[in-house]
Amino acid sequence: MSFVDTILKKKAGLPLSDEEIRTFARGAADGSIPDYQLSSLLMAICFQGMNAQETTQLTMEMMHSGSVVDLSQIDGVCVDKHSTGGVGDTTTLVLVPLAAACGAKVAKLSGRGLGHTGGTLDKLESIPGCSVEKTQEGFVEQVKKIGCAVIGQTGDLCPADKALYALRDVTGTVGSIPLIASSIVSKKLASGAGAIVLDVKTGSGALMQTVEESIQLAKAMVDIGTVAGKPILALVTGMDQPLGTHVGNALEVKEAIDILSGRAGGDLLEVSLELGSRMLIASGIAKDVEDGKARMMQALKSGAGLKKLAEMIEMQGGDPRCCEEIAYLPHAAYKIAVPALKSGYVAQMDTTQIGYCAQDLGAGRKVKTDVIDPAVGLVMDVRLGDYVQEGEALATLYLNKRELAAAAIEKMQRAITIAKEKPELPPLVYAAVSPEGIVRA
Ligand code: URA
Ligand code: CA
Repeated sequence: MSFVDTILKKKAGLPLSDEEIRTFARGAADGSIPDYQLSSLLMAICFQGMNAQETTQLTMEMMHSGSVVDLSQIDGVCVDKHSTGGVGDTTTLVLVPLAAACGAKVAKLSGRGLGHTGGTLDKLESIPGCSVEKTQEGFVEQVKKIGCAVIGQTGDLCPADKALYALRDVTGTVGSIPLIASSIVSKKLASGAGAIVLDVKTGSGALMQTVEESIQLAKAMVDIGTVAGKPILALVTGMDQPLGTHVGNALEVKEAIDILSGRAGGDLLEVSLELGSRMLIASGIAKDVEDGKARMMQALKSGAGLKKLAEMIEMQGGDPRCCEEIAYLPHAAYKIAVPALKSGYVAQMDTTQIGYCAQDLGAGRKVKTDVIDPAVGLVMDVRLGDYVQEGEALATLYLNKRELAAAAIEKMQRAITIAKEKPELPPLVYAAVSPEGIVRA
């Protein structure tokens, strides 16, 4: 049977056989199926979807398209957390050190920025000297020694996902539940995680913008993890505004350090505690969510979390002095305020556009070969529901190229809606999805 028949079958809305899905994943990994045929099938999947059996099969085939990390030398359960991607979403740099300081073993594979969303690898690389590349042995060694490591996808991990992801990014085929679910869960399974906590974003800065679609995505991932025999749980959390106030690589590292130093808090800390407490439960350390949060707060207040972040940075080749003195991080030449065009309540944010604004300043890539400027980005001066006077700052741009300011200011002013009425504030956590079912907040 030729691959065209597979495309035609999916185009007609029929489920693919295990064999056809195997051919698809292997052909993507080894390059034997041309990009135009892969892209065509991806688009057919976007329109016709996949049933649970197909999605699980695709995940398993992608996982086995490369090597699978063996974490069995590490004592206890290795727990991993993954977000579907957001703006100002620095939870990893807050919760990984806190969870590790509480005794969890966190062996985390992170991603780079994608589209309007930021990526933990790019954030870590903004720390002078810090590397996100390790051999499998080095990765295991670091987790054994200090309890945590955050690195990038090594050479032959999930090559099918690498190929399909790059195509999806440029063919309008990112926003599909079976494609996102298989992409994320295959990587988590290949990285050897013993337990998985997922953060599925919902709202104007997320891949899935409605709560119902986000819950469906969470359920698809939890179902696959459960079939694979892994303890797995997903929280659906809000992305109707940047989660933290800082958007941009070194800026987000700074915000994580501020939080771990007790100088900042807010929604970013709240969501980090929600997710981190689930990681501590999965690790057998906390007995429930309240206990998990209390342990993480204790690690924050004692300074153990900040110390753990410094250890992790040092073991990955970076300069840990940035944890004590922010001046060791790169900083931008110019700071320019974005003034409100009228007085009123901050009623709505187009968070995707805010992410693109940071990207325009150089914080993200428009094409794969773009080089990121670690210092640039923006800091939000308002949150949803705040009252602003005309002329007051909505945000502050941090930039190295002054000529980019005018367009960025305009984009930010368009992205933030100011209204007469005080808006109803969205919740931080919309739902928890586990093998036992869906609990809506
Ligand atoms: N993150 C991934 O790794 N894959 C997706 O498809 C979306 C977000
Ligand atoms: Ca083990």
